Amino acid sequence: MPTSRIYWRLHSLQQHFKSEASLPLNLAMATGSKLFLSLFLQLLSILFLFNPTNAQGLKIGFYEKSCPKVELIVKNVAADTMSKAPSLAGALLRMFFHDCFVRGCDGSILLDSPTNQSEKDAFPNLSLRGYQIIDRAKAEIEKECPGVVSCSDILALIARDIVAARNGPSWEVETGRRDGNVSIITDAFQNLPGPGFNISQLITRFQQKGLSVKDLAVLSAGHTLGVSHCFSFSNRLYNFTGKGINNDADPTLDPNYVAKLKVKCKPADTTTIVEMDPGSFSTFDNDYYKLVTKRRGLFQSDATLLDNAETKAYVELHAIQKESFFQDFGVSMVKMGRIGVLTGIQGEIRKVCSKVN
Ligand code: HEM
Repeated sequence: MPTSRIYWRLHSLQQHFKSEASLPLNLAMATGSKLFLSLFLQLLSILFLFNPTNAQGLKIGFYEKSCPKVELIVKNVAADTMSKAPSLAGALLRMFFHDCFVRGCDGSILLDSPTNQSEKDAFPNLSLRGYQIIDRAKAEIEKECPGVVSCSDILALIARDIVAARNGPSWEVETGRRDGNVSIITDAFQNLPGPGFNISQLITRFQQKGLSVKDLAVLSAGHTLGVSHCFSFSNRLYNFTGKGINNDADPTLDPNYVAKLKVKCKPADTTTIVEMDPGSFSTFDNDYYKLVTKRRGLFQSDATLLDNAETKAYVELHAIQKESFFQDFGVSMVKMGRIGVLTGIQGEIRKVCSKVN
């Protein structure tokens, strides 16, 4: 029997059980029904173990009845995007991360502001791309089942599907998020980690979001996909100590790599982009960890994973084997997808992802 069907059966059982549970407990006791009490406790433990809805109110297959084709529609949009614009893979994965770290995974990254004061207007988000892909998926889903699927869930699904489409792992995405109706530029500055962060700043920021040191080591490998602007790391090439002397590069960055990067990135360059995982920037693999061990991680936030025993061990192990990394990536993405979610009657299901209803 498919897992989803088991969930549905358990859900029906739960509905039935809920009406039973609403009987006053003292009535059961008064009638001396020890059997009832024992059944009650047994059912409670079964439901606790198998309840498909997690503590955040999300569950796998949330739209199974209300919009059964949603996952297929998103998957097709992701596949089509990857065939026509593969460079959007990194951008769409990053978009989900930037949504979740700011006000939770509530689609607030997608909201437009008439005065350019929403999250997407914050400097770290100016390099996000691919909003039109989310809009396209939303439009196709709205035709199939209007007003049912949240934009925040579309972000979570598409992040999974583009990783899988670039030869990466796949995982079951929990759905049931609802969309927020607030998006504030300063929230993005305050919540997104910066490329200059050191290990303790990264650990603190991840822990503030309920993510562990391991999640940090795992999710940082999202940098196996995509590109970066020179300005995100040029401080590591020029004037690292701020003393303005020549050859003032970050000593933790491989000097040969510094020389190569300097050819592409001139000081004060604001437009050039470089592959973060040169040669395989559009394939999801474990090369990120190989680069970091070779001191070729592009950002200080990548290099600093070698400054903590736990993250260093994770990086070194997964530079030589990718299987457990692939498994861990799915687990950490699911965890990231639970940050600050709105569920139940909170928030709304936006009709258009860039606007509140
Ligand atoms: C650990 C803290 C992190 C920092 C400081 C960080 C920082 C950055 C920066 C500065 C860029 C380049 C932006 C540009 O110049 O265009 C970037 C790109 C990217 N980041 Fe991160 N990031 C972090 C974590 C993550 C996580 C958790 C993921 C996803 C799981 C992720 C996925 C990506 C991807 C895929 C790109 C490439 C985007 C593209 O191709 O357009 N990053 N990141």
